[in-house]
Amino acid sequence: MIPIPQYPLYSAAIAELSAVQLNYYLDEERCWALDVAELRRALAEGRQRCCPRVLCVINPGNPTGQVQSRQCIEDVIKFAFEEKLFLMADEVYQDNVYAEGSAFHSFKKVLFEMGPPYSEVVELASFHSISKGFMGECGFRSGYMEVVNMDPEVQQQLAKLVSVRLCPPVPGQIVLDAVVDPPQPGDPSYELFNTEKQAVLSALAHKARLTQEIFNKTPGIHCNPVQGAMYSFPRIELPPRALAAAEAQGQAPDMFFCMKLLEETGICVVPGSGFGQREGTFHFRWSLRTKPHCPVPN
Ligand SMILES: Cc1ncc(COP(=O)(O)O)c(C=O)c1O
Repeated sequence: MIPIPQYPLYSAAIAELSAVQLNYYLDEERCWALDVAELRRALAEGRQRCCPRVLCVINPGNPTGQVQSRQCIEDVIKFAFEEKLFLMADEVYQDNVYAEGSAFHSFKKVLFEMGPPYSEVVELASFHSISKGFMGECGFRSGYMEVVNMDPEVQQQLAKLVSVRLCPPVPGQIVLDAVVDPPQPGDPSYELFNTEKQAVLSALAHKARLTQEIFNKTPGIHCNPVQGAMYSFPRIELPPRALAAAEAQGQAPDMFFCMKLLEETGICVVPGSGFGQREGTFHFRWSLRTKPHCPVPN
């Protein structure tokens, strides 16, 4: 079970494995919230086609930029427990939370705080990456997965699978080590590390606010608050003539919009159809990116 809109590596991996993709829709009207009633609907529908095994949650979300509440995570854990689903928590944007009132809650922490029976039973894999956060070191190709409560026989197979994939080069491993064990107060590099980290995160937070403000002033564009991650996913209203022109060119309407934007302004965004969206709605994904060491905005 994967969210829609989703980071398309999930649908691609499912296709590669000839598995069945079950979509649950995030609620755009409630800032891309994850609703357990929608999970139930998707599961019931999925059970008519296959035997659902895994529920994947991306928090903070790509492409939708939402941060799920602690209550939501608890509800998802209860749902996974009741329905015997393996939880995959993609938490690669855990350092990227900007909105006031939003906070990152890790699935593992919430699971353990909930205590038995959940903490002893719910199978969970959580993912993190050096590509995101304030690090943005995508080129080093490193990250980690932490598994909790995994069936020992399955874990044996997982170890085999991971072993045959070898590992990232040494520099990537060094960066990962630095990410999981950052400088602490009192260490010689702590002050500089902290200043640079805050500068990157403040610049991203500034861009998140700016994006939302500017898009919502633009006729025909509606943008939810960018609570976290590195993206906004605004909805666009396309006039009938644009829809007709897209059809004439054999393009999805949002692809048509994105190509026009690129050709006429040089701005490159990704059409919503690449991530999945509710039928009849159109979006694009806009990336907030920043260079390391960029100055803190006023
Ligand atoms: C939600 C999510 N998960 C995982 C990844 C993969 O990260 P990487 O392969 O760079 O570690 C990305 C990259 O964009 C992502 O957005």
